[in-house]
Amino acid sequence: MSVIEAKSLTKIFPGDVKAVDGIDFEVGAGEIFAFLGPNGAGKTTTIKMLNTLILPTSGSATVAGFDVVKYPAEVRKRVGYAAQDVGVDERATGRENLTLYGHFYRLDGKKIKERVKELFELVGLTGYEDKMVSSYSGGMRKRLDLAMGLIHQPQVIFLDEPTTGLDPQTRVHLWDYINKLAKTMGVAVFLTTHYMEEADRLADRIAIIDLGKIMTIGTSDELKKSIGGDVVMLTPCAVKDEECRDFVRRAEAALSGKPFVSGTKPSDGELAVYVNDGGSAIPSIMQLLGSQGIEVKTISTSRPSLDDVFLKYTGRTIRAQEGTPTTIMQRRRQVNRRRNQ
Ligand SMILES: Nc1ncnc2c1ncn2[C@@H]1O[C@H](COP(=O)(O)OP(=O)(O)OP(=O)(O)O)[C@@H](O)[C@H]1O
Ligand SMILES: [Mg+2]
Repeated sequence: MSVIEAKSLTKIFPGDVKAVDGIDFEVGAGEIFAFLGPNGAGKTTTIKMLNTLILPTSGSATVAGFDVVKYPAEVRKRVGYAAQDVGVDERATGRENLTLYGHFYRLDGKKIKERVKELFELVGLTGYEDKMVSSYSGGMRKRLDLAMGLIHQPQVIFLDEPTTGLDPQTRVHLWDYINKLAKTMGVAVFLTTHYMEEADRLADRIAIIDLGKIMTIGTSDELKKSIGGDVVMLTPCAVKDEECRDFVRRAEAALSGKPFVSGTKPSDGELAVYVNDGGSAIPSIMQLLGSQGIEVKTISTSRPSLDDVFLKYTGRTIRAQEGTPTTIMQRRRQVNRRRNQ
């Protein structure tokens, strides 16, 4: 039986902002399910609806068998939530933070003590129980936050961008803890991320979400196979200016429809060309472009990655979305503008 089930789930904010636009999915016990999408895609809004923090505008969802609108109290008893912004109190110790959460869930003192020990072990913080959180690193705070979401042994845990801002090594550690949670304790894990590698390595199934819609859903392998064959990446120029974009347009026009090309997708200053076999396609591509005076600076071939999957379904690379807080803010503004048009 599914632990999470969403049907046509929709959230429209005032001003007609369609943050989540009729999504359907299911998550099973012990499954790690990832929402992969850029800033403003609707990931946090989905989590908030499933956590009963905000009401859906339409559609429905059940979590642990309970409808999120009709039985919010039953849902809350069975879910854990580690929010996008870490919710730990840095003026208290790790143990105090966790104990307070235990009281929120009305666990008795003995049970809380047991859980504190177990959870510090699970997230690799044993020995730091009585240190002030202000002395914890960012990664340690994220791990404590994860532990707090687990104090009441939920059937489902929602992790909103659990590793954003962490260094690669800490990220890998956190993946281990999340994996253990699902695979040895049977907890259903719903996580959001805009890191492809995280979705690729950690999740059993991935939903690619953009502008409030699920564009595709499947295992990492299924998604990559859905592209078929190889991806040839053409970069016609060193500087991504208007001239370069013109090159990309011309290259796409020259290649699309050719028998050895199954599809093309331009992104900023690059062109992805989907082919059956990269090795045999490259000479034909070069010859064709050369005959039309289109020069190519670099050309590479690879098996499809989740980035290619993302590009195919959204028309953008997710790499371009990862970035500084400024680019994130810009992207959010773009999304809002597009929605308000
Ligand atoms: N309370 C709100 N009122 C109005 N608009 C909102 C509200 N919360 C979110 N939005 C808008 O809904 C859209 C989806 O936001 P959401 O926070 O769900 O995205 P996200 O995928 O979690 O993005 P990020 O990766 O930046 O966290 C955005 O356009 C956002 O500006
Ligand atoms: Mg978010």
